[in-house]
Amino acid sequence: MKRTPVQPVLVTGATGRIGRAVVGHLLDAGVPVRALTRRPEAAATLPAGIEVVTGDLTVPASLDEAAQGAGAVFLLWTAPPETAAAVVERLAARTRRIVLLSSPHRTPHPFFQQPNPMAAFHAELERLVADTGVESTVVRPGMFASNAAAWWAPSLRAGDVVRWPYGAAETAPVDDRDVAAVAARTLYEDGHAGGDYVLTGAESLTQAAQVGVIGEVLGRPVRFEEMSPEEFRRETEGQAPGPVVDMLLSAWNAAVGGPAYVSSAVSDVLGVPPRPFRQWVADHAGTFARGSVPTP
Ligand SMILES: NC(=O)c1ccc[n+]([C@@H]2O[C@H](COP(=O)([O-])OP(=O)(O)OC[C@H]3O[C@@H](n4cnc5c(N)ncnc54)[C@H](OP(=O)(O)O)[C@@H]3O)[C@@H](O)[C@H]2O)c1
Repeated sequence: MKRTPVQPVLVTGATGRIGRAVVGHLLDAGVPVRALTRRPEAAATLPAGIEVVTGDLTVPASLDEAAQGAGAVFLLWTAPPETAAAVVERLAARTRRIVLLSSPHRTPHPFFQQPNPMAAFHAELERLVADTGVESTVVRPGMFASNAAAWWAPSLRAGDVVRWPYGAAETAPVDDRDVAAVAARTLYEDGHAGGDYVLTGAESLTQAAQVGVIGEVLGRPVRFEEMSPEEFRRETEGQAPGPVVDMLLSAWNAAVGGPAYVSSAVSDVLGVPPRPFRQWVADHAGTFARGSVPTP
């Protein structure tokens, strides 16, 4: 596949799970990187050899300098939505290509078809990018494998039981490294304009089976215990936003009784199969170790 001339790529969300890995893939491919953060002190946690730029998605003009002359922009939005139109307009005026991290809300599978504000916002972001006419690609990961760390590691650091709702819900967790690798390719490789990639892992697994895989990898007798949705709401109150909890519960409820949607997009773009969930767990086993300290 032909590569575009080497101009810097602006990576938003560069200090987060996906963006940080995108930065790594771009560096490995020899592509100059501008990493965006709101916190200049975060530069110390980013790899050497990149340019760290300060900017805030809620202050559109703060992105102008960072985007100027960028060959492509990786756009990952975790900020409030109000400034999205102004940001997209400013980015499109300064770069040739935008790769947007979205979600599989167009995929006709019950898991992805539960109405939620996040899906509506992703649809709006996609429309904004498309309307600018800039070359664009949409990357739509399903459930991240790394959610297992946020969701289940606290229980497994403290004991051997995971209490969670909808143990029978099936998902196909995608390894963050595969998501980032696909995003990076579409940023520096030609041939992805108009591309729309739904990224999943290769295997449909119930949530209870995923917890079982963690126990097998750790070599510990880990047990899954079903929790009611009402209890989950009570337990997450004050820790997770209500709409996010509602989104998860309705998606899991819809994912009981049938296999998860599995796509071939990771293999199609990278030429190698997606990493299995078991591999993700093995590579992050320390996160679940009894008594270990959570990584920031
Ligand atoms: N979890 C899933 O299963 C899943 C599935 C599909 C899609 N997604 C999508 O994935 C995205 C989350 O990615 P992630 O997990 O990599 O994120 P993350 O680890 O939570 O990192 C968030 C990033 O956003 C940056 N950020 C936050 N507010 C900002 C602002 N106002 N201006 C500029 N940057 C800002 C932060 O940078 P600084 O703090 O350094 O400024 C940080 O780098 C979301 O869009 C989500 O919808 C998630």
